[in-house]
Order: sequence, then C-alpha cells, then structure tokens
Amino acid sequence: MSVQPVDPKKPDLEESTNVAEQHAAVSRASSAAAREQQVRENGLEPVSIWIFLAGSIIAIIAGSVLFSSNNLFAYNDFVKAGYVQADELGGPAPIPQGDVEAVYMAKGAGTYKKCMGCHQPDGKGNADYPPLAGSEYVVESPVALMMAVINGVKGPITAAGVSVNSQMDSQLNKSTDNLEIAALVYYLQNSFGNRVGKIYTPEQMGQIKELNKDRPAGHTTAAELDKYRKVQLEGELFEPGTIINKKTGEVIVAE
Ligand code: HEC
Repeated sequence: MSVQPVDPKKPDLEESTNVAEQHAAVSRASSAAAREQQVRENGLEPVSIWIFLAGSIIAIIAGSVLFSSNNLFAYNDFVKAGYVQADELGGPAPIPQGDVEAVYMAKGAGTYKKCMGCHQPDGKGNADYPPLAGSEYVVESPVALMMAVINGVKGPITAAGVSVNSQMDSQLNKSTDNLEIAALVYYLQNSFGNRVGKIYTPEQMGQIKELNKDRPAGHTTAAELDKYRKVQLEGELFEPGTIINKKTGEVIVAE
C-alpha cells in the first residue's frame, strides 16, 4: 500500500488506527491527571485550614458578644415609647402636651425669672422688696395679683406682714398671652409655700384684662389692690390632671 501524501485538513493517521479507541485512551489519561491536579482560577483557590479556623473563632466570639448584650436586636430600645413619626416622614406632627399643673409650673417658673431679682428666688423678698410667699395680694385673687403685675404698684403696701413704701413698674404687657398669665398665677399661688391649688384657665385671664380696661392707666395702690383681692373670676376651673396643649393651652380630649 503506497503512502498517500498528507492532506493538511485531515489527521495524520494510518488506516489501521482505531480513532475511537485512541480518543478513549487519551481522555482516560487526561481525566486522571485532571483529578490529581485541579487547577483553580485566580482568587478561587481553596483557603488554608488555619485561616478558615481563625475566621470561625472570631465569628463565634463576635456572635456571642452581640447576643449576650441581649438588647442589640431589640426594637424597643431604639424607639421611644409614644414616638410619633414627624410630618415630613409621613406621620402626624406630635402635639406638645402635658398635665396642666406641670405645664403651668414650668411656664410660670420661666416668667418668674423676670421677678426673681427683686422678690428673690424663694419669693420671700427682703427689706426693699415685699414677699410673694404668703402675700394676700398673691393668694387671695388672681385679679389683685395681675393688676399689680400689669400696672405696677406705688406707695406704702404691706404684704405678709412686711411693709414697704416704694414702687414697682409694670412687669408684664397688657397684651401678654393669657396662657402665660394663667401659668404665672398658678406658679405664684403654688410656690414658696403658697398652696392655693386652683387651676384657672387661660380664658379666665381675659376677665382681668377686661377689668383693666375700666381703670385709668398708671400704677395701682394698696387701696386699689385691696378691692381686687375680693374679686373672684367667673367660670369653670381646670380639673386637676387635665391634658393641655403646651403651646396654645387648649384642652386635649382623649380619643
Ligand atoms: C425691679 C424690682 C421688681 C421686680 C422685677 C418685680 N417687682 Fe414686684 N414689687 C417690687 C416692689 C418694690 C414692690 C412694692 C411696691 C410698693 O412699695 O408699692 C412690689 C410689689 C409687688 C406685689 C404686691 C406686693 C406683694 O408683695 O404681694 C406683687 C404681687 C408683685 N410685686 C409681683 C411681682 C411679680 C409677679 C413680678 C414679676 C413678673 C414682679 N413683682 C417683679 C419690685 C419688683
């Protein structure tokens, strides 16, 4: 049999070669080699057992620390009770509110800072400034109290047995907010040992402003204040524990 010239497109095989057998032999040998030496892509090589163990130990310790603190995943520790989402986040804007007594005391204490320099932080006054603690002008009627504060007082006056003959100019504007006035009245009537306990509404303070319109402008005197001591306000007082809006003084009715 003559040797045929090699056709470059065809494998250089002799006629006697069984192609199927040869393929099988090559594939057996190469798959054995492939099992022996697996070649991984860069970055996918198996990790050393020591690195794996070290990582596991760190994960176990970290996990037990997180869980033993016990509140790490507790929702309630991050969100205050009664929290209401603000308007821009889609919830209703929270209304600042509180018991009327607490709201009045806090607000009244703020306003009393204007008075403290003279009447003293304890409300007991001194030789130059008459006391508000135990003063009949403070505890008997909010009318006498606020007429003195809005218009000022001039001339001899005796409060809680202490007599002075001096002058106080107007301390609050006639147009001062009724809520602020009601809060100041409550604060003065229930601080420094005073225990009146009546909780006037901001609305009732309007009556004092009306009475004030009927008098000529200028300082009050002890004689005029003595008349106001007998004037009581009309209308219903707040019940203790009434919840009000801190900004407006409006009663908040429970739903
Ligand atoms: C600059 C000092 C001064 C300041 C501030 C002042 N007072 Fe007076 N107050 C006096 C003097 C002085 C008298 C007494 C006036 C007189 O002799 O006629 C007086 C009298 C009074 C009286 C009547 C007498 C009495 O002791 O009960 C009341 C009530 C009163 N002040 C409340 C207030 C309140 C409330 C404030 C703050 C909003 C205030 N005063 C701020 C100086 C001051």
